[in-house]
Amino acid sequence: MRLDRFLSESGVATRSEASRAARRGEITVNGSIVRSASVSIREDEDRVCFRGEAVAYRKNVFVMLNKPEGYVSATEDKNAPVVTALLDERDAKRVFPCGRLDKYTLGLMLLTDDGELSHRLLSPARHVAKKYYYRIAAPLSADDAERLRTGVYIEGGHFCAAHELELTGEREGYITLTEGRYHQIKQMLYAVGNEITYLERVTFGPLTLDASLERGEWRYLTDDEVAALYSAAGL
Ligand code: URA
Repeated sequence: MRLDRFLSESGVATRSEASRAARRGEITVNGSIVRSASVSIREDEDRVCFRGEAVAYRKNVFVMLNKPEGYVSATEDKNAPVVTALLDERDAKRVFPCGRLDKYTLGLMLLTDDGELSHRLLSPARHVAKKYYYRIAAPLSADDAERLRTGVYIEGGHFCAAHELELTGEREGYITLTEGRYHQIKQMLYAVGNEITYLERVTFGPLTLDASLERGEWRYLTDDEVAALYSAAGL
């Protein structure tokens, strides 16, 4: 792999920054200064240092974002800010949201450039669980809760059931889904004559929203979190 590609995929420098840094003698490969960023390196074996810091190769990017209200789960939108605008510019050009949250839904969003992983995590056949904290406009009766657990019809004639429903109050609780239809929770509550007033995703498969992330903040996944995702995706 070319050195400039290695550095840009690792999030250290753009390709043109890498070229400039090489000309200035700021990059070493196995201890020797390289003056051109177009040289080939072995990403698994060679020790690359950029301005004195060792660079760990990053094949893919995995970001956990605490999505704020008002952002669209997309990389581009004409009318509203997009979630990738909250990331570093270099990552923003690379990743896409793994699944969608509605504009007014908050909480855990995974963004990655790993298409195969994303595809598998979202595949209905995989039944990857997503847990949401909700608040609703009117108290939920025992009958309504039972209907959400056994299933209701939503738009398009889809029959959807909560995988789990935990009531923490008359107007709040946690609902877990293993599928992801458009506006699914809103529509399910609507089907029992209620209305969502607040919705926040708190888990996505093996990931739990990091409580230290403020709304709009993000961090890279840890190696353990990435491994858990791969395992949930059957990879
Ligand atoms: N269900 C919804 O209605 N909205 C979301 O954002 C996610 C699930």
